[in-house]
Amino acid sequence: MNKEDFSDEELLRLLSAEGEERNMLYKKGARIKADYVGRKVYYRGLVEFSNICGKNCNYCGIRRDNKNIRRYTLTDKEILDAVRFAYENKYASVVLQSGEVESKGFTSRIEKLLREIKHISNNELGVTLSLGEQTRDVYRRWFDAGAHRYLLRIETSDPELFKKIHPGDSRHDFRRRLECLQSIKDIGYQTGTGIMVGLPFQKPEDIAGDILFMRDFDIDMIGLGPYIEHRDTPMFRYRKLLLPPEERFHLTLKTIALLRIIMKDINIAAATAMQAIDPLGREKALMAGANVIMPNITPGKYRDSYKLYENKPCTDEEAEDCNSCLEARIHMAGDEIGYGEWGDSKHYIKRQYNEKQG
Ligand code: 5AD
Ligand code: SF4
Ligand code: FES
Repeated sequence: MNKEDFSDEELLRLLSAEGEERNMLYKKGARIKADYVGRKVYYRGLVEFSNICGKNCNYCGIRRDNKNIRRYTLTDKEILDAVRFAYENKYASVVLQSGEVESKGFTSRIEKLLREIKHISNNELGVTLSLGEQTRDVYRRWFDAGAHRYLLRIETSDPELFKKIHPGDSRHDFRRRLECLQSIKDIGYQTGTGIMVGLPFQKPEDIAGDILFMRDFDIDMIGLGPYIEHRDTPMFRYRKLLLPPEERFHLTLKTIALLRIIMKDINIAAATAMQAIDPLGREKALMAGANVIMPNITPGKYRDSYKLYENKPCTDEEAEDCNSCLEARIHMAGDEIGYGEWGDSKHYIKRQYNEKQG
């Protein structure tokens, strides 16, 4: 544990840490966070603006074939009202997330919204997109319209496991996911990815491989959380193969701490899914190395329809509720909130500088 980079075997050993050893790992994650990025938590107001999705991921509650939910799309006005809430409450940046749609109409709608968001916030709000796989051209158009960060989880870096958790058609292709991530990075976005921890069929070796993948890809931001079963998905039938929730939770925390120790100056989100297992899940993630929180600013009436997994917190709340709730939670974790600051990934800033120097 005194080292700051690890081999495959060492990672495996640390991923199985328990008791006092496990606590030491979390403490080390916290110390590296304090030393390299400080104890400020940055907000990204999350707008889940549509649950319409063309994909059919076997784990996800809003997959195309789930007929058990009401599909919705926020109007431009609803989106911009949520964005205005974020701006007025000094969140400094927002995330636009939805199911995956690839179409001309969708591309230009996002382009228009990006310009609008920049306009209503005097160019001050940062915008992250989390809109899945798109062509390089689409990523470029959105970048040119003002988006500067993009989140695209790889879900797992093992092509075989990727196949097991997705339908075996061309719409769910590991190589395309990887190419998309590369395009995002090439275009100049701050690049975020992540995985689900505790998937059925996932072995500790897979998670060690994921950690090394994120290191070697030189990722700027990470969002990862525990896999949580959803009854209206094909993967629900494997629920007996899962680790008990508490173990899944700790495996996720250990992964966060290890990524913080190895990658030091990246941004790591304390995912909402942590709180689906443990009421203090997000605080615990902050105390193991995470430094970003995505307060939900989606209008309350839609939240119940954006359940990627069951037990999702904040579905009965409005943006104001999450705002005051989170302030208390973050102070409880001993951190302060970086109001009004973009809180860019320090890693990205350094990476840009090095690339310019050649
Ligand atoms: N449990 C946890 N996370 C999930 N996601 C989708 N379905 C689930 C689930 N059942 C995550 C995926 C996706 C992100 C938007 O939500 O990692 O990339
Ligand atoms: Fe669609 Fe994303 Fe859910 Fe897959 S994980 S079904 S792409 S919303
Ligand atoms: Fe949404 Fe606590 S963060 S209610």
